[in-house]
Amino acid sequence: MQIRVVSDSLDTQKLTALVVPVFSDRRLDGIAAQLDAMLGGAITDLYSSGEIAGKSGERAFLHTADRSIKRVLVIGLGEREKFEASALVRYAGAAVRHLGKLNIHSLAFALPLEAQHHVRQSASCLIEGAIAGILDTTIYRTEPDHPIQIDEIILLAHTDAHTFQADALTEGAKRGRILGEAINFTRTLALRPGNEMTPIHLATAAKEISRTHGLAYHVLDEDQMHTKKMGAILGVSRGSDEPARMIVLEYTGDPSSKEKLALVGKGITFDSGGISIKPRENMEDMKYDMCGGAAVIGAMSVIGQLRPKINVLGVVPASENLPGPRATKPGDIHRAMNGKTIEVNNTDAEGRLVLADALCYARELGATRIIDAATLTGAMVISLGHVAVGTMGNDEDFIKHFLRIANTTGERFWHLPLYEEFATIVKSEIADLRNSAGRPAGSLTAGKFLETFVDKTPWIHLDIAGTAYLGTESAHQAKGPTAVPLRAFVAFVEDLAHNGIAKSNSSTEKLHPAART
Ligand code: BES
Ligand code: MN
Ligand code: ZN
Repeated sequence: MQIRVVSDSLDTQKLTALVVPVFSDRRLDGIAAQLDAMLGGAITDLYSSGEIAGKSGERAFLHTADRSIKRVLVIGLGEREKFEASALVRYAGAAVRHLGKLNIHSLAFALPLEAQHHVRQSASCLIEGAIAGILDTTIYRTEPDHPIQIDEIILLAHTDAHTFQADALTEGAKRGRILGEAINFTRTLALRPGNEMTPIHLATAAKEISRTHGLAYHVLDEDQMHTKKMGAILGVSRGSDEPARMIVLEYTGDPSSKEKLALVGKGITFDSGGISIKPRENMEDMKYDMCGGAAVIGAMSVIGQLRPKINVLGVVPASENLPGPRATKPGDIHRAMNGKTIEVNNTDAEGRLVLADALCYARELGATRIIDAATLTGAMVISLGHVAVGTMGNDEDFIKHFLRIANTTGERFWHLPLYEEFATIVKSEIADLRNSAGRPAGSLTAGKFLETFVDKTPWIHLDIAGTAYLGTESAHQAKGPTAVPLRAFVAFVEDLAHNGIAKSNSSTEKLHPAART
C-alpha cells in the first residue's frame, strides 16, 4: 500500500474517493468548504436537508458528476471544540470499512483544519485508523466476508494559509503506518486459535519480530524456569503437555542510562480454568487470554522501528491453563521466584501466577519501572465494561503521568485504588498468599496480589479483560481483538524518551479539602 501526503489545491486532484470531515456547528472550512464550492453546495445541501447534522460517526455518501473527484464520503466529527486527534482513528477506520467494502482501492482523506494544532499526531492517528480498519478477522475462512484491499491512501492537507507543515505530516504518517501495521499484527496473533497459538508459537512470533526490528531476544524453557525457581508459572503449565515459555525482548535505545522500562504481558494461550474449570459458554474466547502478551510483542516491534532514546524490556510469561493429569489442584502450594508461597485455591486465577514470576524476572533483568497488561479478571468487565482499562499501581505520580499520555491515544484508562485493606484479603491461612480472594473487588485484590512481586519498583497494572477483544463490530473496526493497550504503550514510551518521568507535587492532594488553607 502506498501512502502519499499532498498539499496541492483540491481542483488539481484526480481522486477515486475523497473522505471529508464535517462538524456539528455546520461551518464548512478547509477542504470541506472548497469541495462544497466545487460541487455547487452539495455538502451545504446535506445539512439543510437534514441528512447530516455533523454528529460524530454520521456518514453520507455522494456520487458526483465531477470528473476529477468521483465519490465523496462525508463523515461527522461532532463538536468542533472537543476535537481530538484520536477521533481521526475512527474517522479513517470507518471510511476504509465503508469504501473498502464497495471495492474502492484508492482513498483520499481530507484533514480537518482543527488538526493543524497537532499535525504529527493527527497524521499518525489517521493512517493508524485507516490501516486498522482494513483488517478482516475472518482470516480462517476460505472466502473471507468482505475483503478490503486498499492500494493507496492520500492525505490531503491543503489550506490557503499553508498551516500544515509537510515534514510533520510525513513523519506522522510514517509513525501511523508502523503503529497500524503493529496493531494488525497483534490482533492477528490474538485471533489465532489455541491449537495454532501455543507458548512455543508465541515465542517464535517474538523471535521473528526481534530479527526484523533489531531487538534482543531470549527465552526460558521449563528447565531454565526450574533453575530460576519460577514455581508459580510452572504450577500453571503442569496441567498441559505444551511447555511454558518465558519470552523476553529487549531494546536498548539509551545505553548510557540505567533506567529501564519493562512491559509485561500475560500470555495464557488458552485458559480453560484448569481443575477449577470454566463453564462451557464462550470458553472459546479464552484463546484471547494472551492479548496482553501480544500487545507487548506488538509494542516492542514499534519501538524497534521508531528507535526512541530509552531502554525497554518486554516480558511475556506464556503458558496454557489445562486440567491435565498432573495439573495443579485447589489447595496446592507453589513457591514463586521471589520465595513467596502461594496457596492455589482456584486454578482459574492463573494469570496472577504467571505474572508473579514474570514481574520478579523483569526486576532481575534490571527493570526500574514496570507496566503490565493482562486479561486478568472477569470482574473488570463488570466494573468498566468494554470501554476502559482498569489502571492500578503503587506510585501515584507514575500512574498520573501514564494516564495523561495514554488517554490521548483513543484507548481509555481509568484509575482504580489498591487500598491497603486488600492486602489482608489475599493472605492465606497456610501460605503467604492465596491466589483467589472471592468476588468482592475482584480486579483490585488481583492487583494487590501482583503488587507483592514488584517490591518497591514503580509499577502500573492494566486489567484489559474488558477491552482486549470486542464481541461486536463497530463502524471503524472489525470485531475481535483490539490490540489494547499497544497504542498507550507506544505513546508512553515516546513521552518518557522525550520528556523523562513527570513528577507532580501530589502531597497536598491527599489532604481532606477542609484541611487545605
Ligand atoms: N482470563 C480470565 C479472566 C477473564 C475473564 C478475561 C473474562 C476475559 C474475560 C482469568 O484467568 C480468570 O479466570 N480470572 C478469574 C479469577 C477468579 C478465579 C479469582 C475470574 O475473573 O473469574
Ligand atoms: Mn483463568
Ligand atoms: Zn486467564
